[in-house]
Amino acid sequence: MLEDDFGREVSGVRVSLTDRCNFDCVYCHNEGLGDTRGPMDAQDDEMTADEVVRFLEVVSEFGVGKVKFTGGEPMLRGDLEEIIERTPDSMEVSLTTNGTFLPGRAEALKEAGLERVNVSQDALDPDAFAEITQSGAYDKVIEGVEAALDAGLDPVKLNMVVFEHTAGYVEGMVDHVAENPGLQLQLIEYMPELTGRPEWNIDIERVHNWLEEKADRVETRDMHNRRRYYVGEGMVEIVDPVENPHFCANCHRVRVTHEGYLKGCLNRNDDLRSMGEMTRDEIRETFRETVANRVPYYGEYMVKEGDEWVVNDEYIDAPVTTS
Ligand code: 5AD
Repeated sequence: MLEDDFGREVSGVRVSLTDRCNFDCVYCHNEGLGDTRGPMDAQDDEMTADEVVRFLEVVSEFGVGKVKFTGGEPMLRGDLEEIIERTPDSMEVSLTTNGTFLPGRAEALKEAGLERVNVSQDALDPDAFAEITQSGAYDKVIEGVEAALDAGLDPVKLNMVVFEHTAGYVEGMVDHVAENPGLQLQLIEYMPELTGRPEWNIDIERVHNWLEEKADRVETRDMHNRRRYYVGEGMVEIVDPVENPHFCANCHRVRVTHEGYLKGCLNRNDDLRSMGEMTRDEIRETFRETVANRVPYYGEYMVKEGDEWVVNDEYIDAPVTTS
């Protein structure tokens, strides 16, 4: 496996297949690109299935064993099944989706080789859900989660972004996964870095403390030092990357944008490298360089000065090194 200067091996890639989406979630960071365009604008610069597969074949040679497809909404790609089918067998495939297209399609995805799904579900309440996602698709999402479970895509991880609009629904969601076998919950701290709106932040430590009280059992995982809270039939994890050097020190993934740019860090847009028109050899080299240039965002790219996080002088206007 390739390793960066901070001892972080790259074991997974997260590949955006489109930035189109049938939702328009108020919090969305669009995989680090920010709110750059209308949700369903026509798009002609997405990677083709061949390009995605070629990239995956190259990184699988480096021992990258996991791929997560994401978007926008990756199920808007009609060739998603084909892409999964053609993903190297050595890679574990998962998908992050809003769930609306899972009914009728979950089985085909499973047959193509998909192992697991994350479904974004920010509240159990249809009105709150509609307000957050700016969509009326609540029932479809619930149906989609069922379809995924029926197809054997379990455990289904529900992604809930915890911020001002959803904080009141955390308890309901925890009870929901506690009562429904096959479901897990990821409480994701709202990340304001690319969306602005820091006023939507909530104190994630309070959620940790509350869950600690509520859980039957708590475990600490190596990855990101994440704690796992077992409640009833369910398992709840808190993903808390914001201003968290410990989280960044344990980041083992490289991203690819829908347009085929390598991206070493969700929060940075000054390290993008295009793979368009490249040969396998060039992709191999570019991937090596992206890994070599990776730095932990909190703790290295950003450093603490008193109470404030500021960009480390080293990275201000520093050109991205190329060989
Ligand atoms: N903060 C935290 N998580 C976010 N996601 C999208 N935008 C944000 C944000 N600003 C997560 C959601 C969604 C996944 C694709 O990305 O959990 O399920």
